[in-house]
Amino acid sequence: MNILVLGAGGRENAFCWKLSKSKYINKIYAVPGNAGTENYAENHNISVNDFQKIKSLVIDKGIKMVLVGPEEPLVKGIHDYFLNDDSIKDVHIIGPQKKGALLEGSKSFAKEFMIRNNIPTAKYLKVNEDNINEGNVFLDDLSPPYVLKADGLAAGKGVLIINNLNEAKIELKNMLIEKKFGEASKNVVIEEFLDGIELSCFVLTDGKNYINFPMAKDYKKIGEGDTGLNTGGMGAISPVPFVSKEFKNKIEKEIIRPTINGLRKEKIAFRGFIFIGLIKVKDQPKVIEYNVRMGDPETEVVLPRIKNDFGEILISLVNNKLKFVKMKFSDHSAATVVSVSGGYPAKYEKGKEIKGLDNKTESIIFHCGTIKKSKKVFTNGGRVLAVTSLGRDFKMAVSKSYSFIKNINYKGIYYRKDIGFDL
Ligand code: AMP
Ligand code: GLY
Repeated sequence: MNILVLGAGGRENAFCWKLSKSKYINKIYAVPGNAGTENYAENHNISVNDFQKIKSLVIDKGIKMVLVGPEEPLVKGIHDYFLNDDSIKDVHIIGPQKKGALLEGSKSFAKEFMIRNNIPTAKYLKVNEDNINEGNVFLDDLSPPYVLKADGLAAGKGVLIINNLNEAKIELKNMLIEKKFGEASKNVVIEEFLDGIELSCFVLTDGKNYINFPMAKDYKKIGEGDTGLNTGGMGAISPVPFVSKEFKNKIEKEIIRPTINGLRKEKIAFRGFIFIGLIKVKDQPKVIEYNVRMGDPETEVVLPRIKNDFGEILISLVNNKLKFVKMKFSDHSAATVVSVSGGYPAKYEKGKEIKGLDNKTESIIFHCGTIKKSKKVFTNGGRVLAVTSLGRDFKMAVSKSYSFIKNINYKGIYYRKDIGFDL
């Protein structure tokens, strides 16, 4: 089968890498891909949101399956677009239709879904410009810090965590009235702050059956010791050392099963990944957010620990055979360390030549924002490389990644030196 991987990051590089080992996959295409996907796939420089051009490519190349990496094309309805066009409706899209994508595309939809299905999550109130006063009263009753979330997609920037009550009220007004995040903050979800440690949980589902992928923990802050601005993710580890068997069972019973049952009961068609952002508050897992895709950089530690043929898993999914899939995970730990462009997540420059990629290593080098020009590789985004290693424990894995990454060179390179510091 020919498959198209949609997206341009480390996650998509990891998808292509894993699919290249599948005996069920003939040819891999990447849209738009990066210098790393090029090692396994044929890149096509098309936007992930240009459904018409994607359709032409799919028809031209005889592509039978599309694995969607990022959320935006899903929230914009790529799956529905394919289903509504007779010439491509039989192409299997991995990723939900618009309705299911609302689990990520609308924070209030996700909260309402959780409440209806008794899934543990933070207390919340949805507000718009007409009930801003109710929002202020709700804030008065909460203890600091205060969590304000733009309802819609805001490129990962729509969540504010504020210590001061007055400041929170001002920001609430900024979001609703001044449209701080544009249309995305027309509605705002105000949430109780949950104090605990975060982890990421991944399931692949056809809307009725599901299989678990390994859990992971990512490091979102730019600075060491989890300080500074939020990023897409600066590193990740799998498995998560503080997840015991009992805690895993609790996640399964109180969160994963009610989520899948909820989709079925509410007749929300869903074929694809659900990434459940969890927080462990004492011994209670609670949902921080749903994403309708794999995580990045979590994919870069999750896939290297899976022993199954990834192509076979996806084919089982679309053939309604998911319940026959037996997942096999490596006992080893995986760690990835992400190198970024100087200045990221604020302003940064692109186009810096990357040197050291050919150094000998056991690590797997996943490219995030890179581009190849006349056989040289240049930076082309905020996150540049994700260097993944396996080891008997996460410390060993992390240290292997550091010994490779310290010999990588491009102008402005930065990476956190403390991935795993809190475990
Ligand atoms: P989200 O986009 O909903 O995942 O939020 C981004 C980040 O904000 C999360 O990864 C958490 O670190 C933090 N966050 C979101 N909601 C809460 C909450 N209710 N309590 C504490 N931290 C939160
Ligand atoms: N690493 C977090 C995300 O992919 O959203």
